Amino acid sequence: MGIDPKTIDWDSLGFNLIETRSMYKATCKKDDSWSPGELIPFGNIELSPAAGVLNYGQGVFEGMKAYRTLKNRIVLFRPEMNAKRISMSTKRLCIPEMDEELFLKAAIEIVKDNVDYIPPYGKGSLYLRPVVWGTGPVLGVKPADEYTFIIFASPVGPYFKGNIKPLHLKVTHNFHRAAPKGIGNAKAIGNYSASLYPSSLAKKTGFDEVIYLNAGNEQLIEEVGSANMFIVKDNVLKTPRLAGSILPGVTRDSVLTLAKEKLDIEVQETDVLLDEVCSADEVFCTGTAVVVTPVGKITSEDGEHSINDGKIGIITHELRSLLLGIQREECEDTLNWLHPID
Ligand SMILES: Cc1ncc(COP(=O)(O)O)c(C=O)c1O
Repeated sequence: MGIDPKTIDWDSLGFNLIETRSMYKATCKKDDSWSPGELIPFGNIELSPAAGVLNYGQGVFEGMKAYRTLKNRIVLFRPEMNAKRISMSTKRLCIPEMDEELFLKAAIEIVKDNVDYIPPYGKGSLYLRPVVWGTGPVLGVKPADEYTFIIFASPVGPYFKGNIKPLHLKVTHNFHRAAPKGIGNAKAIGNYSASLYPSSLAKKTGFDEVIYLNAGNEQLIEEVGSANMFIVKDNVLKTPRLAGSILPGVTRDSVLTLAKEKLDIEVQETDVLLDEVCSADEVFCTGTAVVVTPVGKITSEDGEHSINDGKIGIITHELRSLLLGIQREECEDTLNWLHPID
């Protein structure tokens, strides 16, 4: 049913589930189109042990945030990009393709019904977690006969409290995140189960996260844990091109646009060599959770590399401030990225 929002201590929010009032639920049969669902109290759902998602990982998800801004409005940030991505992810997993308009309406409904769970300005955001699962029972490996779309929400705190600490990353030479022509560019649940072991090994040995290399060419970098990766060298901003195994991040796209339009610097979506990363002027990663987070040290097979003396770089800092400024309505949204909810 959700906890009473009046009992939430907004200053101690982390990234843990806090149950809210309601969730959105719709269902769809295989080969049908999605039609609108409804808000129901947040709670457990019942599934057959033979559900497609439980046995064959037929599931995709999204992650997005609703913010309370300086102007005391509630906004979503570029939600149409999440709608487009979930539609692509569902298609790739043989799930009825998500209707982008229905997805957007559902996201707005869930925010409106849980508005009192949105942290005050500057204290965090309401994280939305849309999921689509094959919930019909299957025995053989095949698409399920029925699908469930749910959006639940949870208030979350800022990723970093106080000063941002640049990350220490470990290049993993033992595991790949995604195969070329696999499902790395879809937000498929299986990609995340595959990342748990490499990530936990790195964390046990004192690193913040891992850098994944391209499975077809191990000289090239791909992503950092579940975030996109950027480098700055001689005032040029570079990020790995989207060639099938990299998730097309909303923040990645936003940072590329801000660098071009607001900072007037050259941007390249291209192959990025691990050697270039280790000798870059600045390195950072991007995502809905991490926003723009600097990388201060990288450990690879050939030892430890310090980036910008372990400090946040100027361009990293500017991009982070520009993005947060728009999301919090501290500066003007000239690119029309905010979707206000009234
Ligand atoms: C594998 C992966 N890469 C990149 C990202 C960043 O994407 P976005 O900026 O849309 O949050 C995410 C997070 O969703 C992710 O899971």
